[in-house]
Amino acid sequence: MIKVYPSVLAADMLRMGEEITRMLEAGADGLHVDIMDAHFVPNLSYSPALVRAIGRRFPGVWQDVHLMMDNPDRYIGVFADAGASAITVHAEIDRDIAGILRDIRRLGCRAGLSVKPGTPVESIAPYIESCDQVLIMTVEPGFGGQKFMADMMPKARFLRKNGFKAPILTDGGINADTAALCAQAGVDTLVMGTALLKAEDPAAVIRACRALEDRI
Ligand code: DX5
Ligand code: ZN
Repeated sequence: MIKVYPSVLAADMLRMGEEITRMLEAGADGLHVDIMDAHFVPNLSYSPALVRAIGRRFPGVWQDVHLMMDNPDRYIGVFADAGASAITVHAEIDRDIAGILRDIRRLGCRAGLSVKPGTPVESIAPYIESCDQVLIMTVEPGFGGQKFMADMMPKARFLRKNGFKAPILTDGGINADTAALCAQAGVDTLVMGTALLKAEDPAAVIRACRALEDRI
């Protein structure tokens, strides 16, 4: 079954607890937490303190932490300790990717690898065995509310064709319509910011996504 992770970046920050409650009551499978460092992307967002606070208020909720950072290796321990369930780093960083993924697993988290729109998915082939999920960016990372890039779908198809069985997530511009394109391409987990947090009936949006055929 298709999973849906609301991206808390689209939440009203001053009402974060209520927003998360609303999403969980609507049937969200977990939460996507975007961490931006103002270097890897031209924006700043949250810190490990948010992950810790979510964990305290919502024990057991899956926290999918997306590190848009140049030097995630220095912070994975802090995020794991704060309560991250999965930690995703970017393939574009000039770091020891295999080592970072191994360390994330050692810390007891699911290890994720993400590709920006301009990064060929073939470039992560060497790390496929070392990661537990792949996050395909369907917008340029840094901001919510951008337009979905349908031409990223071949990346998911490539991974499925080559036998990748673990979760594939798409992130950016996902709504009930673009979700269908993702599901057709073999994506099984949808990160949704604006389209879900600003929806009048988020439960209906989640139900519509869940009803899409899972192609794995
Ligand atoms: C963008 C973030 C996304 C963002 C998605 O850099 O990684 O998670 O919150 O927001 P929407 O769904 O509004 O495009
Ligand atoms: Zn994200």
